[in-house]
Amino acid sequence: GTITFVSHDGESQEAEIAEGQSLMQVATSNGIAGIDGDCGGEAACGTCHVILEAQWFGKTGDQSDEELQMLDMTPEREATSRLACQINVSAALDGMAVKLPEFQM
Ligand code: FES
Repeated sequence: GTITFVSHDGESQEAEIAEGQSLMQVATSNGIAGIDGDCGGEAACGTCHVILEAQWFGKTGDQSDEELQMLDMTPEREATSRLACQINVSAALDGMAVKLPEFQM
């Protein structure tokens, strides 16, 4: 299964789902441009911000207080914004497309 990352200017990059990894790890290990993951997945840097389609938002699990506080400080935040490091990837997310913000923190 794959997840597609769509850049701000509409370019698609695909990554293979790796069970047990976070969406940030999947992105960085596949060299997806636009996901940095500077804090290593601690919900503390905001450089893994992704914007989900509403239909996928509910399938990506709960948001911790740490994630929500970080998103409060994240430019370009939308109602369906998430930190990719806080999403566990599984086959249930096969076919998901996520949008990248124009700028990460
Ligand atoms: Fe730092 Fe996700 S990698 S907040």
